[in-house]
Amino acid sequence: YAYFRLAADTAKEAVHICKEIGINAANITAPFKTDIVPFSTQLSPEVQKLKICNSLVFEGDTICAYNTDIDGVLGTLQEANLNLKNLPCLVLGAGGAGSAAAYALHNAEAKVTIVNRNPHKARNVAKAIGCQSISTTDIEKHLQKIRLIVNTIGEHHNLISSHWLTTKHIFFDAVYHHSQFKELTAQKGCQFIDGSHWLLHQSFPAYLRFTGLEPNVKAMQGIFTEQKMPKHIALIGFMGAGKSTVAPLLAQQMNLPTVDIDVEIERHCGMTIPLLIEKKGEQYFRQQEQIVLEEVLARPKCHIISCGGGVIAQSSLAQQLKEQSIVIWIYASPNICLKRIDINSRPLLAQHANPLQAAKALFHKRKFVYAQTAYLLVNANNNSAKIVSNKIYDEINTLFPH
Ligand code: S3P
Repeated sequence: YAYFRLAADTAKEAVHICKEIGINAANITAPFKTDIVPFSTQLSPEVQKLKICNSLVFEGDTICAYNTDIDGVLGTLQEANLNLKNLPCLVLGAGGAGSAAAYALHNAEAKVTIVNRNPHKARNVAKAIGCQSISTTDIEKHLQKIRLIVNTIGEHHNLISSHWLTTKHIFFDAVYHHSQFKELTAQKGCQFIDGSHWLLHQSFPAYLRFTGLEPNVKAMQGIFTEQKMPKHIALIGFMGAGKSTVAPLLAQQMNLPTVDIDVEIERHCGMTIPLLIEKKGEQYFRQQEQIVLEEVLARPKCHIISCGGGVIAQSSLAQQLKEQSIVIWIYASPNICLKRIDINSRPLLAQHANPLQAAKALFHKRKFVYAQTAYLLVNANNNSAKIVSNKIYDEINTLFPH
């Protein structure tokens, strides 16, 4: 299996790319948990009720939608040995996570109240689930009879003051990166449950559905160990996807040096790549590719590396790229790629009577390795190089803040 992130502007774009590449399943996160539902053809009873989905399975033309946030909440609270029956609970937030939490708790026979900055939204979700809602001005008073507080609101719109917390409260925060409530609840002597448990528990049923395999809990827990920022940023993808055009733009944006592996090979060998492949064969070219890439990866300073489309065909190089760089898959379909390149400069395609057919076959052979090597896919099908570069820049800043 291969698992990578996909950057999309809309739910429609995400579904389109999944179908085009032939992806089997996807986790869906904010802000697409509601927008994705109309693209699904088979809804689980929970998704039917909530109209919120966090995982999709593609089965031929059928797109099955599930909500495993519900399992995330229940699994966590079970692990904490909480008896939910008649437990007074307050859910802060009525978005995707809040609705799933309220639904899970209500079905477990807890007494659930929802509160949201927009009271209308809280009322609607409460009505769909069959629980109650209150307005933000009533939170302080209402908290006196609450045992479990589930917070699904990000740190910038906090609804709760730490003065209102007492030792009888159990505080479950969906925020799993540096929750501000961890310390506040400790000061107030109330039990704190970290959102990472939710993240983990929602992933188990998704993993089982995606792969048919029992999840390896220990390995999955490993994702919470601090991720080190890899040394380089590498762009991979099929010939003509736009790697060589995007790399200098991204380098300029990030104020980093850039290097194009194909250009380095040409410099190193003193001839163009078509001539090199013609004279010495593809295997010799791959050896040169390995020498040059390994030299570039060993450079101490972070580089934006534009790789040749076939670099990942050598599994040791794919592995080194993955270990030493944030690998971005610039994706464009073979059809679009071919329109962007001069076939004569790509000997692996030029030697075929039908280059499009050859490109499709080569892409099909390689796509799994692109997926396995990549950390993030950015769609370059109908986006300019500048837009692709901006997207990568935004994603890197969000995923690896420094
Ligand atoms: C190749 C892609 C080319 C170049 C060579 C082989 C490939 O680079 O390295 O022609 O095997 O896909 P681009 O992806 O920059 O076109």
